[in-house]
Amino acid sequence: MPFTTHTESALQTVQEWLREDLERVEARMREIPLTFEPLRTAVDHLLRAGGKRIRPLLVLLTGRLYQPADEAMVSLAAAVEMLHTATLVHDDLIDGSLLRRGIPTLNAIWTPAATVLTGDYLFAYAASLAARTENVRVMAIFARTLMAICEGELQQQFGDRVAMRSRQDYMRRIYAKTAAMFELATEAAAVLAQASESEVEALRRYGVALGMAFQIMDDVLDFTGDVQILGKPIGNDLRQGLATLPVLLYLEEHPEDPLIPRILGGSSGEDDGLIEEAVRRIRNSEAITRSIAEAEAFIGQGRAHLQGLPEGPAWQALWALGDHVLRRNR
Ligand code: IPE
Ligand code: IPE
Ligand code: MG
Ligand code: MG
Ligand code: MG
Repeated sequence: MPFTTHTESALQTVQEWLREDLERVEARMREIPLTFEPLRTAVDHLLRAGGKRIRPLLVLLTGRLYQPADEAMVSLAAAVEMLHTATLVHDDLIDGSLLRRGIPTLNAIWTPAATVLTGDYLFAYAASLAARTENVRVMAIFARTLMAICEGELQQQFGDRVAMRSRQDYMRRIYAKTAAMFELATEAAAVLAQASESEVEALRRYGVALGMAFQIMDDVLDFTGDVQILGKPIGNDLRQGLATLPVLLYLEEHPEDPLIPRILGGSSGEDDGLIEEAVRRIRNSEAITRSIAEAEAFIGQGRAHLQGLPEGPAWQALWALGDHVLRRNR
């Protein structure tokens, strides 16, 4: 049972097993037409920086529950990773984030206009890759996902800051910004592999649960992570006044602490010292272990949806990805 590892290397084991498939996905992403020189440089910069490729792995693993990857499955995996790359380009601009995957973001070196347009170009290529599956239902899922992500980002921008301090609102936001794309990966791959409707539904739910856990852990890493390993800045969410799960749980535990509400209220300005102090307080509080426990619960729910699906190495790998999500440090 090669994938029942309980270490952080669960992802690496899966990446090695599917190396050839991933190389095909990588090649498909690089088929992006780039005749305009600055665009070529920018896209090269983005694709070379790599990333964990967890979303295309989810597509490939879901597909492999049923059959080895065909051209359509490779296109779908490439489409999902391209969509992810495009959202990162826009996300870093929106978040004012200067570091991604250990290198400067496009917005760190380019104007906002050029960054937005490059992101748009990647979105369009992602759509054209989705079209290469020649499956209208897959394309509809793809479009629905992109709408959910955009709406989620807008909610994050315009949402009432007090209402955003509820757990329900947090769960809605992370579904839209992250879990929806994991849902796309597993649901669309199951549709493409011609799984039965009940299996499509089980895999869709597995994707949502894994994605929820993934974003909770991302929000934890924003407090506990190491910039060198994570490849992106720490404390960025708080700097933006964003109430993530560790913040919500900290506020529950320490309703008397005035610092966090002050930062969330935006009255601390850009004071880095205050942000660092707040990050330190949250990092050293129970809020971190309690957040991780919530992520674990989602992984448990996700795994329950795997019951009854075709067994084999792909099934084991989908199971083991839960360990990666909970233990990842990048
Ligand atoms: C980052 O996703 C954006 C989030 C949804 C938290 P990843 O952590 O998968 O980023 P890469 O692709 O590995 O860089
Ligand atoms: C990730 O949100 C979701 C999207 C990219 C839409 P974050 O803003 O938390 O992602 P990171 O932490 O910058 O990767
Ligand atoms: Mg961000
Ligand atoms: Mg963001
Ligand atoms: Mg984050």
